[in-house]
Amino acid sequence: MTVTTRGTLPSYLTEGRAVFPEGFIWGAATASYQIEGAVRDGGRGPSVWDTFSRTPGKVASGHTGDVACDHYHRYAEDVRLMAGLGLGAYRFSISWPRVQPDGSGPVNTRGLDFYDRLVDELGDAGITPYVTLYHWDLPQTLEDRGGWTSRDTAYRLAEYAEVVHGRLGDRVRNWTTLNEPWVQAFLGYGSGVHAPGRTDARSALLASHHFVLAHGLATQALRAAGAQEIMLVINSSPVMTPEQVQDPAAEVSQADAEAVHRVDCLLNRQILDPVLRGEYPAEVLEIVERHAGLGHIHDDDLRAINQPTDLIGVNYYNPCVVRSSPGEPADSAWPGSEGIAFPRLEVPKTAMGWPIVPAGLSRLLLRLSQDYPEVGLMVTENGAAFEDVVTEAEPGGRVHDADRTAYLESHLRAAHAAVEGGADLRGYLVWSLLDNFEWAEGYHRRFGIVHVDFATQRRLLKDSAMWYRGVIEENGLA
Ligand code: FCB
Repeated sequence: MTVTTRGTLPSYLTEGRAVFPEGFIWGAATASYQIEGAVRDGGRGPSVWDTFSRTPGKVASGHTGDVACDHYHRYAEDVRLMAGLGLGAYRFSISWPRVQPDGSGPVNTRGLDFYDRLVDELGDAGITPYVTLYHWDLPQTLEDRGGWTSRDTAYRLAEYAEVVHGRLGDRVRNWTTLNEPWVQAFLGYGSGVHAPGRTDARSALLASHHFVLAHGLATQALRAAGAQEIMLVINSSPVMTPEQVQDPAAEVSQADAEAVHRVDCLLNRQILDPVLRGEYPAEVLEIVERHAGLGHIHDDDLRAINQPTDLIGVNYYNPCVVRSSPGEPADSAWPGSEGIAFPRLEVPKTAMGWPIVPAGLSRLLLRLSQDYPEVGLMVTENGAAFEDVVTEAEPGGRVHDADRTAYLESHLRAAHAAVEGGADLRGYLVWSLLDNFEWAEGYHRRFGIVHVDFATQRRLLKDSAMWYRGVIEENGLA
């Protein structure tokens, strides 16, 4: 499938120079369960994604992360690839069940050894590590004790954060506590599309609170251990009506404005406000109280959650599009969304079916800068899945992924427009370095700028990777 986006974009997203401020950080991102494989090596315990992917019907074609990109064994080759692309930063996650097979107590030093070697390899290549402590692979033992519906899991994350910092803290400056707490809470415990696959509004809302609590507790533990820079990575999207996607200045009815406001509270402010302001929006508390009561929010929690956080990492793929729709039942991923529809946009889409709206990234970055001015921003994921074709006829094989390059280019221009508009954006990381295990979609969706042949583990730079190397050299689009 070829998707042509250019014709539909305003010229500031397709033309002209877009050079970023000096010191801007360029890199790529991955996550442990999506690339490492080796799920039984080195004393690793099972995670919720091992269990979920083995449950029939949960992941497309029954794919699992058992082998994935075999990065656990091929990390040195992968770091060489990164160096060849000129990456300044590499964001990866630590597999909690490698470090603590049961999620608490005894530390498996062989698990830490792997990350120790990886961090050294990156150091030798001059690439700055951005470590994410938790990118969804919860130790199964903790899930068996309640997972994120249990308050104790938040304390366990803080304990684990201290363990990892103890080993890598001499070489790692930037620490991300959590990746996308909203997705984990509401797709993992609400709609059940992700591990652990629970489908219960109350559980999702409890999980959401315990995630922000975990961020606060882990931040305290990391600071006490001397961590320099702390980041929370969120799946933030601008919430808009279909008309606003076409024309940002479009008039919005009062009912639609209420729908936008409510979903913005659920998606963005439910996470950002407790962390950065020490409070939940009243609209969120009302929804939480209705579905879960408020007993799980203890008196001092908001103080514990509201710890100084240096950076918010923004994973942006598409806007969240809503409209008022009286009588609509709540979506299972959105407790409290009664009367709101999530319509599909009539714009070009990626192979995930996600609408391509680069202007949404400018809108989001500017909004975050305005509403939360004390925190720096980083795009920690941005990228697209397309149906890639390997042209073996050309020596060594080629992947002419013009769609992906166009996607990345338009989003870089959107990020640049936000910088020009005053957003405090410090860096941009492509999702992803490698094609990998795309959660419920298995290996069917390829996000990499490097193609992976999963039968042979051959890595092949796609055209988008070569284009990105040029972007890094020029510090933007020159
Ligand atoms: C994000 C996840 C990441 C990847 C991309 C496509 O939600 O953080 O692991 O799967 O989506």
